[in-house]
Order: sequence, then C-alpha cells, then structure tokens
Amino acid sequence: MKLIYNNLEVVNWVSKNKDLAIGFIPTMGALHKGHLSLISEAKKKADLVVVSIFVNPTQFGDKNDFVNYPSTLDQDLRALENLEVDMVFIPSSAEELYKNENYDTIAFESIENVMEGFHRIGHFEGVARVVKLFLDLIKPNYAFFGEKDFQQLLIIKTLIKKLEIKTEIIACKTVRENDGLAMSSRNARLSKHHRSLAPNIYKVLGMCMQKAKTMDFNDLENTCFKELSKFSSPEYFEIRNANDLSKSGGKNTKWRAFVATKLGDIRLIDNIELN
Ligand code: PAF
Repeated sequence: MKLIYNNLEVVNWVSKNKDLAIGFIPTMGALHKGHLSLISEAKKKADLVVVSIFVNPTQFGDKNDFVNYPSTLDQDLRALENLEVDMVFIPSSAEELYKNENYDTIAFESIENVMEGFHRIGHFEGVARVVKLFLDLIKPNYAFFGEKDFQQLLIIKTLIKKLEIKTEIIACKTVRENDGLAMSSRNARLSKHHRSLAPNIYKVLGMCMQKAKTMDFNDLENTCFKELSKFSSPEYFEIRNANDLSKSGGKNTKWRAFVATKLGDIRLIDNIELN
C-alpha cells in the first residue's frame, strides 16, 4: 500500500496508473465499518482503490469540533492495509492540499440552505472545495459516499454535474450498529450514558416511517422532534423530497426524514427513506 503526502506525488501516481479504473473514498479518518463498506464496494468496481485521510478545516465552522475530531491514523492504516487498498493520500497540511486551488463558488440552490446547510454555515462550500481538489488530483472513475450524509451526497452529485467532472458517484447504504445507531466517527466520543441513548435516534426515524403513511408531515415532524427532545437536544427533524430537499412533491415523490441532534457535546445526524 502506497502512502502519499503531497499533491505532486499523487499526480505522478495517477499518471502511472492511467489505464486502470480508480475507485476513490474520501474520509476524515477515524475509520469505522461504514468506511470499510465503501472500500469493499470500491474493490468490486475498480482496479485500484484510493482512500484519502484528511480532516478538512474549511468545512468546520465550529473550531472545537475541528480540534476534537477523532484521529486514529495508525489503526486506520492497519485496516486499509488489511483491505489491500492501493494508495492512501494523507495531505501533509491544508496549505499543501489547497496551494493550487481553483474553485469558483457553486450555487447548490435549494439543497445548500436547509438542514446541515442552515445549521452549519459554510460547511458545504468547504466539502465541495475539498472534494473538487481530490477529484482534480486523483481523477477517479468512481467515488463512493455514504447515504448517512445524504445532503452531502446531493451536494457532490450537483458539483459533478455542474462542473462536468467525469467521475461516477456511487451512493452506499448507511451501515448501522446492531442497535440501529448509524456508524459515525463521532460515536467514539459519546459518553457511556449518551451512547446508551443514541440508538433512540433510529427508533424515532423508524416511528416516522411507520406514521408517514397516515399522518400529516408537519404534525409528524413536530411529534418526532418532541420524541427526540426526551433524550437529546434536537436541532431539526425534517421530512423532505429526496431529490431536491424541497418540501413539495407529488404522488411519485420519494420522501426522506432527516435528523440532527446533540447528545452532550456530540452532534449526530441520520436519515431514513420513508417510502
Ligand atoms: O464525509 C466526510 O467524511 C467529509 O465530508 C469528506 C467527504 C471526506 C470531505 O472532507
């Protein structure tokens, strides 16, 4: 497994392998089974698998969240070696990665101003900037993203479309713990008490799915928000059109419920398909 720390070496590695199909998984490290499942999917589709590990400062509004983001590099590299990943890109610094950046602000329209976009101002611009940098350098045939960050997935799909980038985006199902909690690097920072409460998030989403067939969506959002408040501090619980994250749709619309809630200092997000 090749470890690369600077942009130029990535470009050289990619040009040496230009006849092979590359599958790419961007990560911020602290790898869990959700990441590993993306890598397994990539191995099925591509000849070479590339993983990046970089805690991207431009997507964090909250400095504390950035500073406290978990880091388990040695353990991550052992897991990637076991999965026979071909190359890991670990940018040595933000200055190195961003030094030749060429990014014009993109209008993500309805997708960027709601939910995560509303509560984490600037977050998606930071994600789009770093993902574009990675795609420009690595030029993967496929890039893999988890549905746990469903809004991020739509942002990336829009980025690809607007900039006519030739990478196919592969969406992968959320991987959950046995008790239903969506895998997330942040789970490791939950206290024992909050970890025992966290599976209730998925229970509320499950309840929402059950009731969505019969209940008015506004009432259902309020009911779910109240349920979340019993064990956590919710920021939002919203039911939205899975295509454009609007609140409008017709009889064939695919709906999804989205949640962000805090347990202590740890902010968790999750979502579920309703129909
Ligand atoms: O989903 C993440 O871990 C990050 O937002 C990503 C895509 C690696 C960009 O920093």
